[in-house]
Amino acid sequence: MDIAVIGSNMVDLIAYINDMPKMGETLEAPDFKMGCGGKGANQAIAAAKLGSSVMMVSKVGEDIFAENTVKNFQHYGVDTQFVEQVAGVSSGVAPIFVDSSSQNRILIIKGANQYLKPADIDRASEALKTCKLIILQLEIPLESVYYAIDFANQHHIPVILNPAPASTELDISYACRCDFFMPNETELEILTGQPVQTMEQIQVAAKMLLDKGLKNLIVTLGEKGAVWLREDKVTHIEPYKVNAIDTSGAGDAFIGCFSHYYLATANIEQSLKMASLFAACSVTGQGTQSSYPDKATFEDFQQSFQ
Ligand code: RIB
Repeated sequence: MDIAVIGSNMVDLIAYINDMPKMGETLEAPDFKMGCGGKGANQAIAAAKLGSSVMMVSKVGEDIFAENTVKNFQHYGVDTQFVEQVAGVSSGVAPIFVDSSSQNRILIIKGANQYLKPADIDRASEALKTCKLIILQLEIPLESVYYAIDFANQHHIPVILNPAPASTELDISYACRCDFFMPNETELEILTGQPVQTMEQIQVAAKMLLDKGLKNLIVTLGEKGAVWLREDKVTHIEPYKVNAIDTSGAGDAFIGCFSHYYLATANIEQSLKMASLFAACSVTGQGTQSSYPDKATFEDFQQSFQ
């Protein structure tokens, strides 16, 4: 197996809006889309759509969403042996608001994702040991994230930690034991308490984390691309200009694609460029996973930039 994602799945309920309603106000929104999401699942599907073999360790609830989530993983070839149902709780759900400038605001109700515990990682350990990369986010309990990092270190498996949603409770010493730490700029701001409006400010905030011992810090910057920082080196990954209609899930697209190409090439900078292009492609479509291109579509998209 190439990649294991130990993480969340959610059902995305996306409202395309012109304005946010004020307190007590009812407003009509022009469009709605429901789809499979969740940061962990999105990253898994992005990598799988590009051809990586992916296994998922995740929890669904006991509701109408659970079966569809599992079927969706299977449809894209993701191994669901360790996607388990939790009795009596809801699946994770994410109401998302996308405005006319394509920007998103996301609420998450973690539901079953809160029940992914270290014992689940133990149960999947034989399969996990065969993986070349483990991807983690913060939509499951922190104790499980820490346990997964311990497991990966013990078995010399590289780890990507996407600290999303940002939590000031995150123990950075665990992040330092991951090979890649990949926040977006908002998460970097929350984690450091520093402003991140300009590239200079981003570098100051990033340095605060690097000084604590992070190996590779990759900050995704939306339409500004991404920046990769390590020791005293900074590499800016240029954005690709597209007509964006929905940016939700673009960060996950970036991480899933980076993982795929990093495993295939071991070339970090080249993989980041591919990830930037893949994320750019994803924002041209509605939804999260539904906007991720498969390999052939991605290759066509690439051609249009050459
Ligand atoms: O990063 C986007 C994702 O965040 C959405 O799919 C939503 O489910 C939340 O987890």
